[in-house]
Amino acid sequence: MDKKKIIIAPSILSADFSSICEALSVIESSGAEWVHLDVMDGFFVPNITFGPKFIRDIRAGSSLIFDTHLMIHQPENFIKDFADSGSDYITVHYEASLHLHRTIQEIKLSGKKAGISLVPSTPVEVLEDILPELDQVLVMTVNPGFGGQTLIPFCVDKIAKLRNMCDRKNPDCKISVDGGVNNDTISVLKTAGIDVAVTGSAFFSSLNPTEFVKILKNR
Ligand code: DX5
Ligand code: ZN
Repeated sequence: MDKKKIIIAPSILSADFSSICEALSVIESSGAEWVHLDVMDGFFVPNITFGPKFIRDIRAGSSLIFDTHLMIHQPENFIKDFADSGSDYITVHYEASLHLHRTIQEIKLSGKKAGISLVPSTPVEVLEDILPELDQVLVMTVNPGFGGQTLIPFCVDKIAKLRNMCDRKNPDCKISVDGGVNNDTISVLKTAGIDVAVTGSAFFSSLNPTEFVKILKNR
């Protein structure tokens, strides 16, 4: 059984935006290493969140790794803005950027780690050729747009397939899972081969986030 330690990336989508600094402190003291930042444009996904200014404003007060998940159409138009805002990882959607290779190069040229995310209906095989270029693949296990949804079971098989692809082509590439991660779903996701678990509603509704992070890491 795979017992490697995973990275936990709480998503502030489920935090109270009126006390965002408190939320960041909770994440920091919980033992999570990353914070996941869900940027939504109301076009690629049916919800709107925040942009680069918000990320820049919270960057100053936090030493967490900033994992920016761009759920926006044509993200290539905004790479510089999100790089300048202090993101560490910038992840774009396969479905949102036509010249994906160019977009990934732009992220890397800006000095940031580059990721691609896939919605549930996109097969992992589309990444076969570009995988060696990537620092992260973010596998969505719910349809993007909202926190608090239930993990779609067939997406677990996608992670296992991707694990195999990464082992062959780019073992340093992180496999992240996003959507419906909780106490009950974490074991099967770890067995499938994740490196990073994004957690929104389960983390912020937990009575003891530090204990919750421990459970996710050790289960
Ligand atoms: C959904 C976002 C997720 C979201 C996950 O579109 O990309 O990062 O915050 O939330 P939970 O963990 O509640 O499914
Ligand atoms: Zn996300």
